[in-house]
Amino acid sequence: MSSFTEQLTADRNNILLTREQIQEKVKKIAAQISNDYQGKIPVLICVLNGSFLFFTDLVRQLSIDCEVDFVKISSYGDALKSSGKIDVLKHVDCPLEGRDVIIVEDIIDTGLSVHFLRRWLKELNPASLRFVSLLIKEGTAVVDYECEYSGFKIGKEFVIGYGLDYRQLLRNLPEIYIMPEMLLQAMDKK
Ligand code: PRP
Repeated sequence: MSSFTEQLTADRNNILLTREQIQEKVKKIAAQISNDYQGKIPVLICVLNGSFLFFTDLVRQLSIDCEVDFVKISSYGDALKSSGKIDVLKHVDCPLEGRDVIIVEDIIDTGLSVHFLRRWLKELNPASLRFVSLLIKEGTAVVDYECEYSGFKIGKEFVIGYGLDYRQLLRNLPEIYIMPEMLLQAMDKK
């Protein structure tokens, strides 16, 4: 019995964004950030778990000095859709007062996470606060939000890979895939 990873990657038609397309975009965003933050030392904050691969690729491409920190929030649980309720599961460790802060997300869907994070982190009085997201789902936002650096605009389909999961699996893939219905059913049966 093949793994879900093998089942998904067996058909390249499931790929939405290749490893090369992603890495090219990561380089572009890193260059933009390096340029905009010349002479500054921003704190980049990885929003766990989804953005862990994007985050590590992004910081490795920066030419400026930076600090890193991590927050963990959860809105989806194991479901396909955001529950709308956000829980903070891990707070930042670094004091953010007076710092230039960049929040790194893998995907913005309803916008609730970004909306929540901006309100929450603003209260910690950073000198500046910007967001970067590799993916932006179009037509799914339920709140207004701002995201200063974005990678790809995508449709409403459910995507996995490169940090994005279904039932905590498939985050390990270097590409981003559209979830095939058959695999979804197989994973639901597990
Ligand atoms: C995902 C993703 C974003 C958020 C975006 O996290 O990583 O943080 O949802 O969705 P929204 O715009 O509708 O708020 P999730 O809660 O699934 O946790 P994970 O990062 O651990 O997968």
